[in-house]
Amino acid sequence: MATSYVRLLLLVLAPLLFLPALCAVDFGYCNKNGYDYGNFSRVEISPNPVGPEDNYLNITVSGYASKQMNNVTIEVYAKSKKTTDLLGGYSICKVGNACVIRSGLCFSPECPIEARTKFVLPIPKVQVDDLEDDFKYVVSLLEDDLVNSSDYDEKYIERMCVDFVVPMLDSTLDSA
Ligand SMILES: *[C@@H]1O[C@H](CO)[C@@H](O)[C@H](O)[C@H]1NC(C)=O
Ligand SMILES: *[C@@H]1O[C@H](CO)[C@@H](O)[C@H](O)[C@H]1NC(C)=O
Ligand SMILES: *[C@@H]1O[C@H](CO)[C@@H](O)[C@H](O)[C@H]1NC(C)=O
Ligand SMILES: *[C@@H]1O[C@H](CO)[C@@H](O)[C@H](O)[C@H]1NC(C)=O
Repeated sequence: MATSYVRLLLLVLAPLLFLPALCAVDFGYCNKNGYDYGNFSRVEISPNPVGPEDNYLNITVSGYASKQMNNVTIEVYAKSKKTTDLLGGYSICKVGNACVIRSGLCFSPECPIEARTKFVLPIPKVQVDDLEDDFKYVVSLLEDDLVNSSDYDEKYIERMCVDFVVPMLDSTLDSA
């Protein structure tokens, strides 16, 4: 009796307990070693997993900036060995509710990412891409190089970059 009650309780509570963890995905640094400009602490996607009928997913990357980054452009790619699809480019001033956390508060929108601050970057409505096996999503934070760029040729330098596998439900499982 007692056990079935506990089981029922767990069944009811489980979704509440595990909901936040469900959106987080494992991630790595694109350059494998990490960056002078900061680090990432968390990558979340929604929905997770992505189903065969989902056309878009929301991505949120959180991290810590060691150095200031100005005029940050966020680029999102799907990348396999053979293919790279650019899925979107966003100015940090315009993207969703991009914000910088200071003293636990979210300041938004703010163009520079200040040195020694935590940041949270929600990137809504990124296209779902389905490349061949073994592809990853890449979120890259680029800074424009005003010193070295001419009016015609704006240069971007990658300051931080994170990659991760987006869990996808296989559509063939549904029809089985
Ligand atoms: C990110 O870097 C800061 C400062 O060096 C450090 O305190 C923090 O633990 C790091 N976080 C992760 C997830 O590596
Ligand atoms: C994605 O983000 C948008 C805007 O914040 C929200 O309306 C939508 O419900 C989100 N979708 C998912 C699947 O989380
Ligand atoms: C950001 O970009 C704008 C327009 O591209 C430029 O006028 C401004 O000087 C830049 N700010 C910084 C801090 O680099
Ligand atoms: C401009 O380019 C030079 C040579 O490619 C490089 O050493 C320098 O760091 C660049 N300037 C900035 C602000 O990135």
